[in-house]
Amino acid sequence: MSRTLTMAPLISLLTIALLTTPAISSVDTFVYGGCSQVKYTPGSPYESNVNSLLTSLVNSATFTIYNNFTIKSPTSEDTLYGLFQCRGDLSNGDCASCVARAVSQLGTLCLDSTGGALQLDGCFVKYDNTTFLGVEDKTEVLKKCGPLIAYDSDELNRRDAVMDYLATSDGSSKPFRIGGSGDISAVAQCVQDLSASECQDCLSEVVGRLKTYCGAAASGDMYLAKCYVRFSKAGAHSHGGNVDHDENDEVEKTLAILVGLIAGVALLIVFLAFLRKACGKGKCDK
Ligand SMILES: *[C@@H]1O[C@H](CO)[C@@H](O)[C@H](O)[C@H]1NC(C)=O
Ligand SMILES: *[C@@H]1O[C@H](CO)[C@@H](O)[C@H](O)[C@H]1NC(C)=O
Repeated sequence: MSRTLTMAPLISLLTIALLTTPAISSVDTFVYGGCSQVKYTPGSPYESNVNSLLTSLVNSATFTIYNNFTIKSPTSEDTLYGLFQCRGDLSNGDCASCVARAVSQLGTLCLDSTGGALQLDGCFVKYDNTTFLGVEDKTEVLKKCGPLIAYDSDELNRRDAVMDYLATSDGSSKPFRIGGSGDISAVAQCVQDLSASECQDCLSEVVGRLKTYCGAAASGDMYLAKCYVRFSKAGAHSHGGNVDHDENDEVEKTLAILVGLIAGVALLIVFLAFLRKACGKGKCDK
């Protein structure tokens, strides 16, 4: 009797783990990261420049969704450039926490690297000692497609129309663009160091490439160095109505659930072993 009672909290713990793991914030989902091969000497002025640059980015993200910094040094090779870009629909609070998270992951991923870049779902952070600020760069960084699905021709037309809409200029500078039709939604974002025309050029390019690359896929993402576009057709597996579900997300969630389960089971085993030990010593009220 008392045995079942004492196990109750454990079971509820397991349930909580199962209930909470799927709520991983999509804004913080890791997309890609990369580091320069060159390392600086720990404890050098370069290191303190990196630290002050990254700190400036984190602080600045509490009041703006884009900013750039240059940390000047007497020696030009120690001069550092950095920027962050949040997705245009993020609140200041979400932007700040995203950039803080990206910077902390960058610190681990690119330990002692002279340069690094990291993209989370909601924000992008980059620093380097070669200036990349204001430089258009259409290098392909990441592309991936969801599972192939049976689009009917109407849906495919609507998907392409949504994508074309994102690539269309209305003459104004719009670094963040969203579009949708029915269950198809898409989002595009430029890094705001690009001029309006460079952003336009980058988005036209990336939309064209993604349409070709992810023809009849349920979703597709393409990240160039200074802009990206993503689309998805809702229904298959939607969470939060965002356009950010992809297979990696699902794998991550499944993993999180598994880890939760394993942790729960491990706890249960430890607890049962403890109970048996206690019972063996005759402290058990049967
Ligand atoms: C960047 O820093 C590395 C290491 O200090 C140095 O070798 C390289 O020349 C620097 N690059 C520039 C453009 O200053
Ligand atoms: C960098 O930041 C400065 C000051 O905020 C701004 O005047 C400048 O236009 C920015 N440069 C780029 C390339 O975004």
